Amino acid sequence: MKIDYISDLHLDFYVRHNGNEIKYKRNTVEFLETLLPDELGEVLVIAGDISHYNRQSYIALEYFSQVYERVFFVTGNHDYYLISSEQSKKYKNKSIEREFELDRMIESFSNVTRLFDYDVTEYEGVKFAGSTNWYPLTEFKDVNFFNSISNDSNLIKHMSISQCNYFESLCYDDLDEVDVIVTHVPPIIIDSHHKHGSTSCYLNELKELNAKHYVFGHCHEQNIYEKVDSKFYINALGYPNEWTHQMNPMDYEREKRIEFMKQWNKIKSFEVNN
Ligand SMILES: [Fe+2]
Repeated sequence: MKIDYISDLHLDFYVRHNGNEIKYKRNTVEFLETLLPDELGEVLVIAGDISHYNRQSYIALEYFSQVYERVFFVTGNHDYYLISSEQSKKYKNKSIEREFELDRMIESFSNVTRLFDYDVTEYEGVKFAGSTNWYPLTEFKDVNFFNSISNDSNLIKHMSISQCNYFESLCYDDLDEVDVIVTHVPPIIIDSHHKHGSTSCYLNELKELNAKHYVFGHCHEQNIYEKVDSKFYINALGYPNEWTHQMNPMDYEREKRIEFMKQWNKIKSFEVNN
């Protein structure tokens, strides 16, 4: 089975929130079309951070449900952000209300599943499980980073991240072996952690590896890692022009820059035996 994957779409940075529903949908879909690879896989996995607006996440999930046989996604930290006073009012200042609303909105899409609490869903003989994989806020430096530097503490309202982490850990402990695990927060240490010299709010290491394939996001990086017998895939689109942070455009000829940009702004894929 060919599985396509992407994360950290941050769609509202590419297509601004627009009161005109028709334009909003058209512009969002037009942008999503540019991300599609030449040859589609059967399944699409989205590892979180779709949009700050559920309406736009809905448009994306509806579009992908029409393009792919099956869509799996997890929510990222930004999918809980209440970024304006209108959003706070709409969701009664409770981030979890965004999750409830999105679940209700996508109820009618029979081929779209939000993975959470490591519940297992099987499709064509391949077992998928996942969850946001919230980072633990147990060490002082992490709590300090969360409260003083990360936006999460300001924009995720009335949700205890450490409780979410604790509950997810219990669920993960109960998980038997599956083929693909999807998380938003990285389950292993990756280059971004070394580069930025910090793991606070960017890592929740999963010690027991219960799957051959892990898909995740959160750090805006694109890479494939191997550890023991498992493979780890990250294909974070990130904010507009974030590809320029990965290569110094001044060091490359125009053609090479364009090629890199095209590669960066695409859904990637891997194969799973079924
Ligand atoms: Fe994130």
